[in-house]
Formats: sequence, C-alpha cells, structure tokens
Amino acid sequence: MMNILDLIKKHKIIPLGTLITDEEVENICNCLTKADLPIIEVTLRDKRVIDILKEFKNYSNISLGIGTIRSKDQIDLAIEAGASFAITPGFSYTLSEYALESGLTLIPGVQTASEVMAASDAGHKTLKFFPAELSGGVDRLSAFKSVFSDITFIPTGGITNKNITNYLSLDNVVAAGASSAMPESLIRSKSWQEIINNLEEIKTIIKAI
Ligand code: 3PG
Repeated sequence: MMNILDLIKKHKIIPLGTLITDEEVENICNCLTKADLPIIEVTLRDKRVIDILKEFKNYSNISLGIGTIRSKDQIDLAIEAGASFAITPGFSYTLSEYALESGLTLIPGVQTASEVMAASDAGHKTLKFFPAELSGGVDRLSAFKSVFSDITFIPTGGITNKNITNYLSLDNVVAAGASSAMPESLIRSKSWQEIINNLEEIKTIIKAI
C-alpha cells in the first residue's frame, strides 16, 4: 500500500470536516469512494466525533486522518481509530516526538519561518501551512520556497475551489486541505449528491493545473 504522504501528494486535496453521526461517516465515505478521493481529515472539533471514528473501520479504502490534534491522548485516539495520519494546527515538539514513537505519521501546522525551522529540525518535511489565507497565503509560501527548498506544504484554512489553483501551482505545495471540499452545511443537510459533484469539480480543477 502507498505511503500516506505519497497518497496525499497523488490526490493533492484533503477534504476535511467534523463528522458527528455514524450516518454522516457512512455517506461521506460513499461520496469519497464515488469521487475516487480516498482521503479524509476528520477534525476533533466536537465531542461527538470520538464516537463516530469507529465507523471508519468499515471503510478500509478510505485513508483517515485526524485533525485539530492537541494532546497525546488524541494521538492515542487516532491510533485506536486506525488513522493513517494526524494533523496538528501548530507545531508541538512533544506531540511530534510522541507521534514518532507511536509510529503515526504527523503533519504539523506552521505559519512562520521559526515554526518551519522547528518542525524541520524535528524531522518533518511536509508541513501544514495554517491558516493559509490569513498567514500571507500564496505570497508567503513563495517566499518560503527559496529559504526552505527541502520543505513542502499543505496549505489549509480559507482554501476554496476558486483559489486552490493558485496554491497548487506553487512548486513547494503538494496538496491543500479544505473544508470547502465537503461543506458542513451540505453534510448537515445530507446533500450527498452535491458533495459528490463538488468533489468531482475539485478533481477537474486539479487535473487542469
Ligand atoms: C482546519 O481545521 O485545518 C481548518 O480550520 C480548515 O480551514 P477551512 O475550513 O477554511 O478549510
């Protein structure tokens, strides 16, 4: 099976969201399967998320990532859920070390040059750039290119179907994370076909780059 970072680089998009019912997991996994986008980041932004993670065990074709991780307990939770990767909003050396010891791929978040250096020193070469649009967006990532030539980024935060091309056109951007890929409003209204259509539209946008 493909290494998770290679799989993310292949698809160039991490659809992300906070799923809160088993039914949402089932339907979103079906949407991702139909759109042939086998990756998801589920963010720990609601207590109910903890109870629905077990449902992903029924969808071994989908590579699960757990996002908004801020503690060792949440890394344990991700491992228990069978997650392929974990994402932290910022860089924590403690969590970086713990994930490494636990054998879980961690993508830490960074915003500044100092954070890139800290994460890189800890061995991470693919970093989440967060919150992308508010942190200088494409211009800051372009500036990072010549300084951090060995580092690649996954911008997340404010990425939409309209601006994703600008990000993915950069050499040091390997993928983007976006809740706009499966908008919360469409999840809550169970608009599964609209979500499939949107995922397919994103794939078309990505193919055109
Ligand atoms: C995250 O959890 O990574 C971000 O909040 C996602 O930002 P977005 O909702 O703008 O995609």
